[in-house]
Amino acid sequence: MDNSGTMNTQPSAERADPMNRIIDAALKRAEGGWLPFDRFMALALYSPGLGYYANTLAKFGHMPTSGSDFVTAPELSPLFGQSLAVAVEDALTHTGTKEVWEFGAGSGALAQQLLGALGDRIERYTIVDLSGTLRERQQQALASWGDKVQWLGELPETMQGVIVGNEVLDAMPVKLLARIQGQWFERGVVRGPDGTLRYADQETGLRPPVEVEGAHDYVTEIHPQAEAFVATLADRLERGAAFLIDYGFPEAEYYHPQRHMGTVMCHQGHKSDGNPLVDVGLKDITAHVNFTGVALAGQEAGLAVLGYCNQARFLINCGLVPRLESANVQQRAMAARLIHEHEMGELFKVLGFCAGVEPWDSVGFREGDRTHTL
Ligand SMILES: C[S@@+](CC[C@H](N)C(=O)[O-])C[C@H]1O[C@@H](n2cnc3c(N)ncnc32)[C@H](O)[C@@H]1O
Repeated sequence: MDNSGTMNTQPSAERADPMNRIIDAALKRAEGGWLPFDRFMALALYSPGLGYYANTLAKFGHMPTSGSDFVTAPELSPLFGQSLAVAVEDALTHTGTKEVWEFGAGSGALAQQLLGALGDRIERYTIVDLSGTLRERQQQALASWGDKVQWLGELPETMQGVIVGNEVLDAMPVKLLARIQGQWFERGVVRGPDGTLRYADQETGLRPPVEVEGAHDYVTEIHPQAEAFVATLADRLERGAAFLIDYGFPEAEYYHPQRHMGTVMCHQGHKSDGNPLVDVGLKDITAHVNFTGVALAGQEAGLAVLGYCNQARFLINCGLVPRLESANVQQRAMAARLIHEHEMGELFKVLGFCAGVEPWDSVGFREGDRTHTL
């Protein structure tokens, strides 16, 4: 059944053709030629060589002229990593560990900032990234750190240390749910009769984690992969802490009746749009994070929540303001975007966990902790 007639799409650009062949092969294998959205998103982002995070497009940068699509906090200003380093050092001290683990390290900018700020305080810096092309970029950027930095294709059985992940959870495939005329459907992708990709809905027993008030039509996401990822971290982290930074909300806000169009967004050339079905592989696809779901998944798997607050509060607690004062005007303008309410300051949150130790008064959450809102 197709409830979503408005999502007809243009045929994809020529460059995306091999990507479309991959989608078609998956559609052919899928029952009824219908791919659940999370499967589609995984192919679009991570298909070897062609998916957005697996190809050689620039992705991160300040301006579209660099060929980039979006800017992240460590790309915007080194003061992001220098401030986060204060919380990381505090966590290394409290957990008695010496290693940092970064998931989804992008261009390597955050690793450079943390290593630059903490130097010998970090015995080993391990990067885990799904993207082979980004790994090459990271290896070039971090060559001067020699053996101190290592890359792993998969997680070891056990880990000790401090985990960081900036904008990793939002890049994990989500399931799309649509409530149409009071009935819930899972939204997936099909090839329409005109040859374009379009949405199609199938009946489902899946539901958002909280009831969405009202009877109006409503589209939203659930995040089984991000939650499974955090549960795996919990399984493997014997002793240490984790700081996950991303855009998103607690579940009461996430599944607010007014947020009826969901949060899936695409980024290309520093513009955002809501149609992941065109230019597949050529643009980023993301969804906001349900921080309540992530916190619960971590807790259920044995982690303790250290704190949760917005990015502005976290960076200010970590001493961003005095750092701003000693920066030049241009650096200051960039770094201010990290904490301005209408830029990254409020939408972005930091969720902290610890394992193998009792939670302590972690510096980043010292003021303005909002764990109670999760
Ligand atoms: C939006 S980018 C963020 C990059 C970087 N952290 C930054 O802030 O600039 C998302 C990154 O997460 C990586 N990623 C997604 N899922 C992952 C997973 N399960 N494990 C490790 N890396 C992952 C992607 O390959 C990509 O490098």
